[in-house]
Amino acid sequence: MSVEIKTIGILTSGGDAPGMNAAVRAAVRTAIYKGMRVIGIRRGYAGLLDNDVFEMNIRSVSEILHRGGTVLYTARSHEFNSEEGVRKAAENCRKNGITGLVCIGGDGTFRGARDLCRAGISCIGVPGTIDNDLACSDYTIGYDTALNTAVEMIDKLRDTIQSHTRCSVVEVMGHKVGFLAQSIGIACGALVTLVPEMNYDLDRDVVDRILYTQRSGKNHFIIVMAEGCGSSSDVADFIQSRTGIETRVTVLGHVQRGGIPTARDRIMATEMGARAIELLEKGKGSRVVVFRNGEVTDLDMEKALAMEKTLDLSKFEMTKMISL
Ligand code: F6P
Repeated sequence: MSVEIKTIGILTSGGDAPGMNAAVRAAVRTAIYKGMRVIGIRRGYAGLLDNDVFEMNIRSVSEILHRGGTVLYTARSHEFNSEEGVRKAAENCRKNGITGLVCIGGDGTFRGARDLCRAGISCIGVPGTIDNDLACSDYTIGYDTALNTAVEMIDKLRDTIQSHTRCSVVEVMGHKVGFLAQSIGIACGALVTLVPEMNYDLDRDVVDRILYTQRSGKNHFIIVMAEGCGSSSDVADFIQSRTGIETRVTVLGHVQRGGIPTARDRIMATEMGARAIELLEKGKGSRVVVFRNGEVTDLDMEKALAMEKTLDLSKFEMTKMISL
């Protein structure tokens, strides 16, 4: 059934990601161009529960295309994760006349959007997370910027560990999975990249490899480790005790989430934000905007959430031959 949408809401939720602002800008301006009224919701679902909303116009999104973070602010709401929370959030949407909602974020945000859809609000999910871990989309807004930030940091680290002939264990983000870590490892030429999806043995896969490359003259070693693998300090201690090589830990942490979005993130976010509004204009709800087979398209939200994504472990076989 087609629903006429006049007022749309927009929010960002979960971990912020560079490029979210570009998506907000695109959605707001596309909606206004199409004659819709736009309500900005601050701090994601938490702000929706508190009715922390404001009217947006085309100037509300000026000068944000190139800025990291999210001007709408973001949060992770525990209260929203309950039947009562979803009911209240849907009620607040109705009070504000919001019949269509654009929800920008990762898997938690999409699950929230699905719950709101079930409560009668037409929602469109837009993938925004540095983790690139959404099965429905080959790309998530923020991933490219985070990847480039991490690579830039590790390039800097390389200079100092090379000078001291040390080993460096670099812990990178990615939540419970290794999509971001794998790409970082390839792009910065890590000797070994550890991800939660891999059954690894520290002696065989890390220590032996360090000693093997040391015999060929290598004198500095970069180990990239996804945060989902556990304690990077324990791994560093283990390497140092087994090899005698001075080993240091660097946790890149939230620095990976900030910064000026890359051109790729701005372009993807702009296309995805505009697409979300086109869907609402057509009266479609319960959809997620995705990037699949090289194009921005959309999928049914329930189906999208049921999909699973697996890491291509064969890439590690490739890097074993190259990163020596
Ligand atoms: O989902 C994005 C992300 O940055 C993950 O990579 C990380 O595990 C998590 O958010 C950190 O969340 P918080 O900002 O709540 O510490």
